[in-house]
Amino acid sequence: MKPINIKDKFSKFSKNWHPHQIAVVDDMQVILAKLKGEFVWHSHDDEDELFQVIKGTLYMQLKDSESDDGIRTEVINEGEFIVVPKGVEHNPCTKNDEEVHVLLFEKLNTAHTGNVQHERTQTEYPKI
Ligand code: NI
Repeated sequence: MKPINIKDKFSKFSKNWHPHQIAVVDDMQVILAKLKGEFVWHSHDDEDELFQVIKGTLYMQLKDSESDDGIRTEVINEGEFIVVPKGVEHNPCTKNDEEVHVLLFEKLNTAHTGNVQHERTQTEYPKI
């Protein structure tokens, strides 16, 4: 058991949209990811997903039938986090070519592309 330095862990990888596991908490895991551009629309049937922004600004698109165009975007700034509830379709994005660093907290069996198979889908997250 040792302190984990988040900045140091981010320096160990560079690939975007590639989750890396930095800790396990019972049946949950702590993940780091570097995001740039738009991901893919997906949802998780049985898992909530927490996104904490460490660097940059994250734009979380959410399907929302009460919005005019059916999509609502939540802006998550550095030092803020959002919990996407199970079943809600979401698509994380960044803007202005910014690379955004996020920490995720979710179940060990959560697939990052959820119910969608995509060229970006990773089934194993490197442990760093
Ligand atoms: Ni997700």
